[in-house]
Amino acid sequence: MSSATTNIESLQAEGRIFNPPDEFAEKAHIKSMAELEALRAEAKADPEKFWARFAESELHWFKKWDEVLKWEPPHAQWFVGGKINISYNCLDRHLGTWRRNKAALIWEGEAGETRTLTYQQLHTEVCRFANVLKEMGVAKGDRVALYLPLIPELAISMLACARIGATHSVIFGGFSSSALVDRINDAQCKVVVTADGGYRRGKEVKLKAAVDEALKETPSVETCIVVFRTGSQVHMEAGRDHWWHLLETVNTDCPAEELDSEHPLFILYTSGTTGKPKGILHTTGGYLLQTHLTTKWIFDLKDEDIYWCTADIGWVTGHSYVVYGPLSNGATALMYEGAPNWPQADRFWEIIERHRVNILYTAPTAIRAFIKWGEEWPLKHDLSSLRLLGTVGEPINPEAWMWYHRIIGKEKCPIVDTWWQTETGAIMITPLPGATPTKPGSGTKPFPGIEADVMTRDGKSVGANEGGYLVITKPWPSMLRTIYGDDERYQQQYWSQIPGVYFAGDGARKDQDGYYWIMGRIDDVINVAGHRLGTAEIESALVSHEAVAEAAVVAKPDDLKGSAIVAFVTLEGGRIASDALKEELRQHVAREIGALARPDELRFADALPKTRSGKIMRRLLREIATSGLVAGDVTTLEDFSVLEKLRSEEE
Ligand code: WTA
Repeated sequence: MSSATTNIESLQAEGRIFNPPDEFAEKAHIKSMAELEALRAEAKADPEKFWARFAESELHWFKKWDEVLKWEPPHAQWFVGGKINISYNCLDRHLGTWRRNKAALIWEGEAGETRTLTYQQLHTEVCRFANVLKEMGVAKGDRVALYLPLIPELAISMLACARIGATHSVIFGGFSSSALVDRINDAQCKVVVTADGGYRRGKEVKLKAAVDEALKETPSVETCIVVFRTGSQVHMEAGRDHWWHLLETVNTDCPAEELDSEHPLFILYTSGTTGKPKGILHTTGGYLLQTHLTTKWIFDLKDEDIYWCTADIGWVTGHSYVVYGPLSNGATALMYEGAPNWPQADRFWEIIERHRVNILYTAPTAIRAFIKWGEEWPLKHDLSSLRLLGTVGEPINPEAWMWYHRIIGKEKCPIVDTWWQTETGAIMITPLPGATPTKPGSGTKPFPGIEADVMTRDGKSVGANEGGYLVITKPWPSMLRTIYGDDERYQQQYWSQIPGVYFAGDGARKDQDGYYWIMGRIDDVINVAGHRLGTAEIESALVSHEAVAEAAVVAKPDDLKGSAIVAFVTLEGGRIASDALKEELRQHVAREIGALARPDELRFADALPKTRSGKIMRRLLREIATSGLVAGDVTTLEDFSVLEKLRSEEE
């Protein structure tokens, strides 16, 4: 990736501006900068009126709201008094139109099998499963955990919960049983929906076994529903566990509940600065409005498109841009279960060619992996159906942007680099593909109706090209409402760092054109391959091992994954550092959290370098991890006493 050619290219890319191609702009929902600026101006003049205009024209309400926004900082309520159902908006309202027989979901399993569900069929499945949940005693307001592979049953379960007003909590299939325990207990889930297993690179991931382990410690769970997916042997606990397919005979008549606009739709756990993941709570009306409108304008959806967002539904991108946004728009969404390099490095390109995919939304990490695997893989395939490309999850380096533009987009597809977070619910900073000139590496400007800024710690806007903290200055419809069960932490974490504004936790700068450049997390969150992990979470997993006395985890830059995880560990007295112990500790983290959190590098130390007040000197550790300073063989204990003189600098 750092060959001479790409370096020159990246330098050229730095200053380059890519205008939306005319043929694209002509047919786009938002066709020009003038149109976009008019929308921005309209929203700025009266944000509530702006959002209400689209809530009215784009969504179905059982009852209209009395008040657009009730803002009692830092708590927002949108469309107060309105009655709505997101499952109705994603399904029922399309049934009275020709879209009834349109493919809603086209699913492809890793082994190549496919399933297509039309809007009518998806509606039937959702109603049926909603009735199953009701029979299992799930009522409005109850929480349901969903721990499933990327199969249609995951979308069906989400929509079924939403239909009856149960709040879903999707837990990524890569999390371990102890991560499940924490999340299920925090939300007090009544039901868990899982599968015997799923597939990843040809191997089975045994989900039900992890659930069995977890359910020993989750007293709130009464029922477990299991999808038959891999057919492997699983334990079924009489009275508690039920096969999904054996429950399928119940009736399919299930009218959507008329829910308050602020009814809790889902909880999604994400990493923060403490060891405990935060349950981000999203509600219904505002969330739906912003996911719907961003999907429509940013992905410029047309009825004949096949749209593919490659994210797992276990992350927020999958919630908003695999399920709710596309279905609310009546789109055809592709879902692929497995890995991008299975059975070969061209699986994505082969899928795009075979399904004639028009819109592709993926992560920079995936793009960097494709670059590494070689351009011969995409070049083997006919990618001419593609008309728009997107990225999300981490900053995209200009080299990767240029490769995506050239090799995948054939220099004719606009690229939308979209910045947002689990907490924001929907995209916040982004180009609109028919209107915004793009610069490789910049998410350009906020979506109409979103007010952002870059500030100093004491709340002053910084000048052009000066670094600072990214903030959102006005409430937005799909904002998180709280941290489930911990409103104090919500206030403290997001609204008190710089009083009065939403603190995103990212560093950023605005250039002379007002374009935003995201510089990455400024807190103790690591973004590994687009997955958010807390250093404190990994540290507490490490110290839960009997051999470990203390641990400090930092990120170091990684060409492929953005960041790699480096752990510094001190051992309990009498424990001897060895390669075997090192491997055991790495595996221990994978067991405690999931393989995605396994440290890439683990280094033993005599003691961790600390400031006089006892704080671990993380900046120093980051430097050591990055520069390779204090090298040596893998098991060597690092002696930080030589770094004593640096102590005063960090303080
Ligand atoms: C990072 C994922 C640069 C950022 C939707 C943010 C990005 C965190 C971008 C949220 C982007 C996301 N450019 N950085 N286009 N998109 N990020 O909650 O650090 O999993 O705070 O949501 O990812 O990660 P999360």
